[in-house]
Amino acid sequence: MNENLISVIGSGTMGNGIAHVFATCPNVEKVILVDLSVQILKNAKEIIKKNLDRQVKKEIISQVKSEESLAKIVFTTDVEEVKESGLVIEAVKEDEMIKKNIFKKLDSIVSKDTIMATNTSSISIDKIAINLKKSQNVIGMHFMNPVPVMKLVEIIKGSQTNNLIVEKTLDYVSSLNKIAVECNDSPGFVSNRILMPMINEAAFTLMEGVASAESIDQIMKLGMGHPMGPLKLADLIGIDVCVSIMNVLFDGFKQEKYRVCPLLDKMMKENKLGIKTKKGFYKY
Ligand SMILES: NC(=O)c1ccc[n+]([C@@H]2O[C@H](COP(=O)([O-])OP(=O)(O)OC[C@H]3O[C@@H](n4cnc5c(N)ncnc54)[C@H](O)[C@@H]3O)[C@@H](O)[C@H]2O)c1
Repeated sequence: MNENLISVIGSGTMGNGIAHVFATCPNVEKVILVDLSVQILKNAKEIIKKNLDRQVKKEIISQVKSEESLAKIVFTTDVEEVKESGLVIEAVKEDEMIKKNIFKKLDSIVSKDTIMATNTSSISIDKIAINLKKSQNVIGMHFMNPVPVMKLVEIIKGSQTNNLIVEKTLDYVSSLNKIAVECNDSPGFVSNRILMPMINEAAFTLMEGVASAESIDQIMKLGMGHPMGPLKLADLIGIDVCVSIMNVLFDGFKQEKYRVCPLLDKMMKENKLGIKTKKGFYKY
């Protein structure tokens, strides 16, 4: 096992950002980024390159560092390649069954000391870790979007998570110059238990004709000092991700206040998923 070898499973919005930030970290030798097809990985590579270029323009990193970082990332469809990693971060769709299958596979191939982290926004760490031989190595490592910009990583300890795994995870977060804040395992953890009902309520406010999307966002931006309005944020996160998180909250707490707004469901059916499909509450 090599602690300086990091793997990320899923190269979408979050996965490509996580691979990007680890690749720019000086201690890291190699980042393995896994996804289902070569075409998806090709898109991820283009996005990472574009985001590194943006950091060069803003003089956050040099051109040389940008090229070195991209060269550190190995793009592959073969999950077996992650087996010698010190840290594996799963960042696939917010779907409990898909995540469980990935952890079952990881459990059988990685070393006894490998950290098996999930970037889940809301799904219980204990549910993901259930029946694994290495359940004590499973931890929530919840990066915020956009990963290269946002400082926070919410760290979620499952009931089985070993303290050494927590400490090593905190070290990885500080090596990225990010700030880790710990919490316990509960639906939506802290961030999305509070954020998602606000986004859901903003969708109800729009659906009921109380105000336009622009007005709702402006009121929350200018009135509450939020950097971005809730509907614009929903487009950035992905409407599908928001719906999945609301469903996890509803299933977990069984309270009406967590019922997903019908407008969000309708947008899902129409493939208006936000920035990633170029249509959401706004057009891109
Ligand atoms: N979008 C956000 O703002 C945000 C923020 C924090 C956390 N999250 C969480 O991060 C995770 C990923 O979200 P996202 O928005 O990046 O999703 P996404 O849909 O953009 O990307 C998911 C990627 O996983 C890939 N994938 C699916 N099954 C796979 C498998 N078996 N093996 C390898 N790759 C597979 C897909 O092809 C896709 O490229 C989710 O759990 C989500 O809740 C999302």
